[in-house]
Amino acid sequence: MKPRLSIGLIGHGFMGRAHSHALHDLEFFFDPGVAVVRKTLCGIGDDVAGTAARYGWQGWTNSWEEVIADPEIDAVSICTPGDAHREIAVAAAQAGKHVLCEKPLANSLAEALDMYEAARSAAVKHVVNFNYRKLPAVALARRFLQQGRLGEVRFFRATYFQDWALSPDVPFLWRFDKAKAGAGSMADNGSHIIDLARWLVGEFAEVAGTAEITVKERRSVEDGAIRPVTTDDTAAFLARFENGAIGLFATNRTSAGHKNALVFEVTGARGALVFDLERLNELQVYFYDEAPERQGFRTIMVTDPSHPYISRWWPPGHVIGWEHGFVHQYYEFVKAIAEDATPSPTFYDGMKAQAVLEAIETAWRGKRWAPVPDTEA
Ligand SMILES: NC(=O)c1ccc[n+]([C@@H]2O[C@H](COP(=O)([O-])OP(=O)(O)OC[C@H]3O[C@@H](n4cnc5c(N)ncnc54)[C@H](O)[C@@H]3O)[C@@H](O)[C@H]2O)c1
Repeated sequence: MKPRLSIGLIGHGFMGRAHSHALHDLEFFFDPGVAVVRKTLCGIGDDVAGTAARYGWQGWTNSWEEVIADPEIDAVSICTPGDAHREIAVAAAQAGKHVLCEKPLANSLAEALDMYEAARSAAVKHVVNFNYRKLPAVALARRFLQQGRLGEVRFFRATYFQDWALSPDVPFLWRFDKAKAGAGSMADNGSHIIDLARWLVGEFAEVAGTAEITVKERRSVEDGAIRPVTTDDTAAFLARFENGAIGLFATNRTSAGHKNALVFEVTGARGALVFDLERLNELQVYFYDEAPERQGFRTIMVTDPSHPYISRWWPPGHVIGWEHGFVHQYYEFVKAIAEDATPSPTFYDGMKAQAVLEAIETAWRGKRWAPVPDTEA
C-alpha cells in the first residue's frame, strides 16, 4: 500500500474550489507516489461544512490554527486573501508542514522574505501557485527557449486583461482593499506575468511604471457603506532584464471585452512565440531559420503526447482546460514531497516576483526608473 499524505486546505472560495478539484483529479490521471488524503477544509464565511462535504474533504474547521496543530496533517495549502498568507505559511513551516501558497506570495517583499526564510530553515517543501507555468503550451514555450530555438531573447511583452471590475456596481471586495490584497491588478494578475517573464526570459533589473484606480469607490455588501478603492485596476510598466532584454507589461481589470486574457510574446534573435490563455491549447511559433518560402507564424496544437504533461490526459486534439494547470502543480508538489525533491515554482520565485512588484510601486510613486531590490544579500 502507498504511504499517505494528508492535506489541510485553508480557504473555501474560488481557489479553495480549484485546489479541491485538482486534488480530486490528481490520482485519477497521475501517480505522485503517495495516496493523498483530503483531510480538512478550513474557511470562514458561508457553509464551510457543506462545501467540505461537496468537495470530498473528510472534515472541516473555521480555525486555520487547528489545521496547523493537527499532527496528522502533512501539508497545508493556503487559499486565503494575501493578508493571511504570511502568518499561516510561517506557522505551517515552523510546525514542519509542507506548504503550497496561492499567488501573489505575500502583500509585501518583507512578508515574502519571512515566508521564504521560514520554509527554507524548516526544510519543508514550498510552492507558490503560479499555475500558468504548468499549462502544456507555456511549458512548451519554455522548452523551445531552453533548446535555444529562439536564439538570444531580446524582447518580452505580456498583458493580462479582465473586465470583471468594469462596472461601478461591482461591490467592494477584498481585492479593492490594499490592506487585504497588498496591491491591485498589478499584484493580482501582474504577479503571474512577472513570474512567466522570470521563467522564460530571466531576472528583472529595473522597471518604470504607472497605475490608476479608475473606479474610486464601491458599495460594501456587508453594511451598504461606500468605501474608497485603494488598489489599482489598471497598471503598466517597462522593464529591463539583467540579460539586456526589454519588457513591456500591462494589467487591467476594467478592460472591456476581456474575460481572462493573459497574452505573452517572446521575441528572440532567431524566432518568436506567442501564447494566449483564451486559446490555451495552442502556441504560435515563428522560426527564422526555416526556408523563406515557408516562414510565418504557425500554430502548434499542444495536445501531442510529446508535449509537457499531455501523455497523462487524452489523445491528440482532445483539449484540456484552465483547471488542468492546478492538477499539474499538485502533481509536482506531492511528488516532490514523496521523492524528497525540489518542486517549482518555490517561495523563492514568489519572493522574487514580490521584489519586482515593490520596484514597480517605487517607480510609479516616484515617477522614475527603480532598480529591483537586491534580495540575495
Ligand atoms: N492562481 C490563480 O490563478 C488565482 C486565481 C484567483 C485567486 N488567486 C489567489 O488565491 C487567493 C484566494 O483568492 P480567492 O479568489 O479564492 O478568494 P475568495 O474570496 O474566493 O476566497 C477566500 C477564502 O479565504 C478564506 N479565508 C479568509 N480569511 C481566512 C482566515 N482568517 N481563516 C481561514 N480562512 C480564511 C475564506 O474561506 C474565503 O472563502 C488569493 O491569494 C488570490 O490572489 C489565485
